[in-house]
Amino acid sequence: MKTDIRNAISFAGEERITENEKKLAILHKTLIEGTGKGNDFLGWVRLPSGTDPDLLKRIKSDAAKIAAQSQLLVVVGIGGSYLGARAVIDCLGHPFLPLLTGRKNPVVIYAGENLDEDYHAGLMEILDQHDYSVAVISKSGTTTEPAVAFRIIKAHLEKKYGRKEAATRIFAVTDSRRGALKNLADKEGYSTYVIPDDVGGRYSILTPVGLLPIAAAGFDIEKLIAGARRMMDQCLASADAEKNPAIRYAAIRNALYQSGKSVEILVNYLPGLNYFTEWWKQLYGESEGKEHKGIFPAGVGFTTDLHSMGQYIQEGTRLMFETVLSVENPAKELHIPFLEENPDGLNFLSGKRYTEINHMAEMGTLLAHVDGGVPNIRISVTELNEETLGELIYFFEFACALSGYLLGVNPFDQPGVEAYKKNMFALIGKPGYEEQGKKLRERLK
Ligand code: PA5
Repeated sequence: MKTDIRNAISFAGEERITENEKKLAILHKTLIEGTGKGNDFLGWVRLPSGTDPDLLKRIKSDAAKIAAQSQLLVVVGIGGSYLGARAVIDCLGHPFLPLLTGRKNPVVIYAGENLDEDYHAGLMEILDQHDYSVAVISKSGTTTEPAVAFRIIKAHLEKKYGRKEAATRIFAVTDSRRGALKNLADKEGYSTYVIPDDVGGRYSILTPVGLLPIAAAGFDIEKLIAGARRMMDQCLASADAEKNPAIRYAAIRNALYQSGKSVEILVNYLPGLNYFTEWWKQLYGESEGKEHKGIFPAGVGFTTDLHSMGQYIQEGTRLMFETVLSVENPAKELHIPFLEENPDGLNFLSGKRYTEINHMAEMGTLLAHVDGGVPNIRISVTELNEETLGELIYFFEFACALSGYLLGVNPFDQPGVEAYKKNMFALIGKPGYEEQGKKLRERLK
């Protein structure tokens, strides 16, 4: 993985960057020694070297069981309980997987990450037609969206296979002690995995939260962890921005923020990375956006969005910077053909690979956006595979924690998420919320 900040330095100012790097060197110590805010949620820091091989064995064995008995795996979860798995599965999977014949692994689909009736009713129609298993994932075990979806899916599964077999098709990932899901899993005898107490939802991708669905989709979780471990070793070893890419990234993005750039757009040129962007948005948005502070994390997929958001980025209000996640080599090869009569005038491209055009679009856009006043940070990997994704995941997590500390917030809590929940509970009539429900209904009249 390489980090290139040359096209951001003049916007951020060398002094600000150096000042941030100095502060981050101290905060690096705070983070790895566990003396900062939210220090009871630092389990993710050393997770890549602390994962029990027996746990991986068990996950792989359950993944094989899921693959043997199911065409579909329904992942029921929201936020940190599904975005990491979806990020990796979408990056590495076939773009048209549901249409591919001869698949060895189940297609992973998602539920409980929204409250759309049509979405879930449509899902039931699909579940009628296919053999499936369910991974129900919730750290608290009480989150409304996945809990409602699981109630419906469990009933469907039990009707389809009978209660006994249904229980062998449900895999629960939750807290070690608390929560409705934990109680249910114990009662019904589901294969159950624990989310460590000291790992919060958005930092949990390398726990069974991410590992079980990723393994079931057919990807190598040991390589994912190996990649993360490599980055972990690098991030823990040095507080020098020259050697620690997380410090370099945290320093520059915060220097840009301090110079008035309050929106960071994560840019990709591969549609498979769109959910990686969603994972990143949650990680940074939920970790930094508090106390009326924080960079707003946005995302675009180019070149698609150059034909929509490209206009704003080039010429709209100058409040954003771009962080481009660049991949040098694709996994497959596709050449542009030569056409005798050159009817579309594209013979100048013949013999070239698709990627060459994509890369030139990337380079041209980089220069155009920098010329238009949009600073550019470029993070590149040679290819997308389990190991490079593991590296990227850990890199972004470590940089996020440091960035939060530099901003002065606790990057491991999410107090602001409660406000909507309380209102929703009051409005749907959850016992205990009657008074608030009355007041809110009055306001909505
Ligand atoms: O980062 C977080 O903690 C949250 O985004 C959670 O992952 C999300 O709210 C889901 O929570 P739970 O896993 O408890 O259902």
